[in-house]
Amino acid sequence: MNFCRETTKMAVPPGNRRVLVPRRAWMVRRQGPTPEDARKDGHIVRARCAPLSPASGFPVSWSQQVIHEISGLEILPEVSLGSEIPSPARIFPMPNLTPAEYFAPFSQIIPNFAAFCSKLSASLPVHLRMNTLKAPVRETRLRLERQGIALVKEDPLKLVYRAKNLSHPGHLLEFSLGHLHSQALSSVLAAIVLEPQPGDAVLDLCASPGSKTSLMAQLMQNKGIIVANDRNPDRLIPLRANLKRLGVTNTVITRYPGQHFPKRFLFDRVLVDVPCSAEGTLRAGPSGTLRQSTWASQKLTRLQRDLLLMAFDLLKVGGTLVYSTCTYSPDENESPLDFLLESRPAEIQPIAMDLPHSPGLQQWNETSYDPSIKYCWRIYPHQIDTVGFFMARVVKGS
Ligand SMILES: C[S@@+](CC[C@H](N)C(=O)[O-])C[C@H]1O[C@@H](n2cnc3c(N)ncnc32)[C@H](O)[C@@H]1O
Repeated sequence: MNFCRETTKMAVPPGNRRVLVPRRAWMVRRQGPTPEDARKDGHIVRARCAPLSPASGFPVSWSQQVIHEISGLEILPEVSLGSEIPSPARIFPMPNLTPAEYFAPFSQIIPNFAAFCSKLSASLPVHLRMNTLKAPVRETRLRLERQGIALVKEDPLKLVYRAKNLSHPGHLLEFSLGHLHSQALSSVLAAIVLEPQPGDAVLDLCASPGSKTSLMAQLMQNKGIIVANDRNPDRLIPLRANLKRLGVTNTVITRYPGQHFPKRFLFDRVLVDVPCSAEGTLRAGPSGTLRQSTWASQKLTRLQRDLLLMAFDLLKVGGTLVYSTCTYSPDENESPLDFLLESRPAEIQPIAMDLPHSPGLQQWNETSYDPSIKYCWRIYPHQIDTVGFFMARVVKGS
């Protein structure tokens, strides 16, 4: 199959620089998704030239570094095939608001609000999670250090390193080989808190692009089973690509709306990392104003509640669930958990980890929350320099 011939026929709208790689290209790529496979099988995709982030499962190094070296094929310049990359949440440009203006409604609940706002002017650090399914941590660390990348150890499991002088982890050969994954420290913590064990049956209800799924597979040593579900068909492509690149073999992918996931099987552990307004990812640009915001609505909070209830219903008695978001809004965090406690035999447990964080809120606006909600973790970027995050560990009673 010659993908290049397909693409050259397509019109390129002027000014449109984002790329949707057609499914046909993916069919080619999926046959040879690592440089070694490509070398063996000659499955080279020439049109890998999109400005896509590593987290989306499209390693830039594939086209720029590896494909050219292996195949000698000409690398096309950045082109557009005429469509925007589909996104799970619609992204709108922000009005010009500074962090202090944007987050003013939360000024009373965020401790040391001035420090929080000033942290948002620094760019997000690059965190690399070492993937022991593909290579020992020490080996990957040495390979990176030999390239002059300065690494600082960050998490309790010693799997995550902050790369001090690296801006594009997707350019690394080690990324393409699956020896590491670019993943925010807070995202790593959610999978660690769930504590999946080898042999467990685990459900990841909102899984794409698979950062947490692949870490769970790593913690489970690829033993047991993970069902990685995501309702968005376009998001299944990066999910599948990431799992393959990272050497995950104990996972099956499903495509249900999580709130309607079939109740045919109960799981030992469930991760429900819901779609959210993603305010935790906001950082200010050079002008001092926030760069972009995602779209949140009452519909979203209703969906989060329904996903959490279904996740809980899919859990065995005594099983563990982690609910997480990358946002600060109590409506998306404490409120759905409070609803769960009222309607199901759920217990929120303390999280046994020694890292800076703030407790879950006991009150928001006129609403008081269950006292056990204090065991939830709110992670702010001035406490741990990463994506702002919320997580709760829930156990199912009888
Ligand atoms: C925060 S992201 C998940 C990130 C992922 N857990 C990770 O660590 O890589 C939320 C995901 O939920 C998916 N999603 C949105 N609505 C959903 C629904 N009703 N059921 C299942 N998944 C849904 C989105 O497509 C998106 O991929």
